[in-house]
Amino acid sequence: MTAYPASPPSIPASAPTRVSGSTSFMVTCFIADGILGFALDAAAGTGVPVMFFRTVSACAFWAYFCIPDLINSGDLPFQGTNLDERIVNVKGMEGFLRRRDLPSFCRSGLSNTTFQEVTNITRRTPDAHALILNTFEDLEGPILSHIQKHCPNIYTIGPLHAHLKARSISKSTSSNSLFQEDRTCIGWLDQHAPKSVLYVSFGSIATLTRDQLIEFWHGLVNSEKPFLWVIREDLVSSLDDENKVPSELEKDTKERGCLVGWAPQEDVLTHSAVGAFLTHNGWNSTLESIVEGVPMVSWPFFADQQPNSRFVEAVWKLGLDMKDTCDRRIVEKIVKEVMEVRKEEFEESARRMAKLAKESVSSGGSSYRNLDRLIEDIKKMSTQSN
Ligand SMILES: *[C@@H]1O[C@H](CO)[C@@H](O)[C@H](O)[C@H]1NC(C)=O
Ligand SMILES: *[C@@H]1O[C@H](CO)[C@@H](O)[C@H](O)[C@H]1NC(C)=O
Ligand SMILES: *[C@@H]1O[C@H](CO)[C@@H](O)[C@H](O)[C@H]1NC(C)=O
Repeated sequence: MTAYPASPPSIPASAPTRVSGSTSFMVTCFIADGILGFALDAAAGTGVPVMFFRTVSACAFWAYFCIPDLINSGDLPFQGTNLDERIVNVKGMEGFLRRRDLPSFCRSGLSNTTFQEVTNITRRTPDAHALILNTFEDLEGPILSHIQKHCPNIYTIGPLHAHLKARSISKSTSSNSLFQEDRTCIGWLDQHAPKSVLYVSFGSIATLTRDQLIEFWHGLVNSEKPFLWVIREDLVSSLDDENKVPSELEKDTKERGCLVGWAPQEDVLTHSAVGAFLTHNGWNSTLESIVEGVPMVSWPFFADQQPNSRFVEAVWKLGLDMKDTCDRRIVEKIVKEVMEVRKEEFEESARRMAKLAKESVSSGGSSYRNLDRLIEDIKKMSTQSN
């Protein structure tokens, strides 16, 4: 087994790298996406510390990190096909983790190169000087303390998107949205009662099959909730305008639905009419939902989304996870469960977590202090190198 350093690697005393050019400047540290292992190799021997920023949740990172342990314990590769089998060898997740909640590529077999690359690079994280995570202590504290045993120098500075508001720095007019946003849906939301609308978006890259689309569509219509649905042009591979709205659902969709190509998600989640978010549980979407206190219905596609959605249901109690099942009856049932039957319960826990999220990025909060500490530590590195 790998040995782990007991303390963070100290900042190298050697002079930092001088990058020459017309204006020469000193490099004090690299901040690299932690999935790009070559950053460690590129920095090796230069004396410049590397900080890894991982864009996933701490719980997903920790599940990735424990994969070699799961291979040792015989949990991986899966024997047999029962995805409900419990996984008890990821510390901190013993009580609730099932095979289906592990990162999706755990289903692929050990020889799969995507699986190996993610596993290998994640296990090299302790070689970096520090780990930066877009999460906050009140959300993932127990998991962070497990990670800390291997990576002592962690900066949790999330939810990243909430800092500007918390520090009263107005956002620039340029949006960081990946696609052209259709703002007409805000006017549509204005016409609806508080917490009555289901917002549906599967993020920027996931794709559905036509059959899945139809199952979701029936489920949404049958739940009888108004719905705002982001149907990206490329959400379904074989979709053209003619077969977009299933004819038998046209009337109900017109009555209760609003379909857009892309939505201004933060503004939608802030809107009082939105009562729940049917989401793929990508980490940005999950955090945006948490900050706005919107309960979730989870339908994860891949990678970190599987552990995220398990945490939404089993740990944070912010909604229900319907992973791996796409059936109109289940969609209807789960939507009603979150928006009717257990509405108050989910709203209450979502409200509580939203408060903690906002406090974490406000003056004195953990992420607020960690961001300042990160900036100070980088400044120290540059003065040390003069
Ligand atoms: C490896 O796993 C990834 C992610 O699960 C999958 O997309 C890919 O098809 C797999 N590759 C092979 C060769 O099976
Ligand atoms: C991952 O690490 C294992 C063990 O060191 C090695 O056998 C394997 O080739 C590596 N895979 C990739 C894709 O780098
Ligand atoms: C996630 O959010 C960050 C800002 O917090 C943004 O820079 C990034 O583009 C977002 N990623 C996606 C896939 O939307």
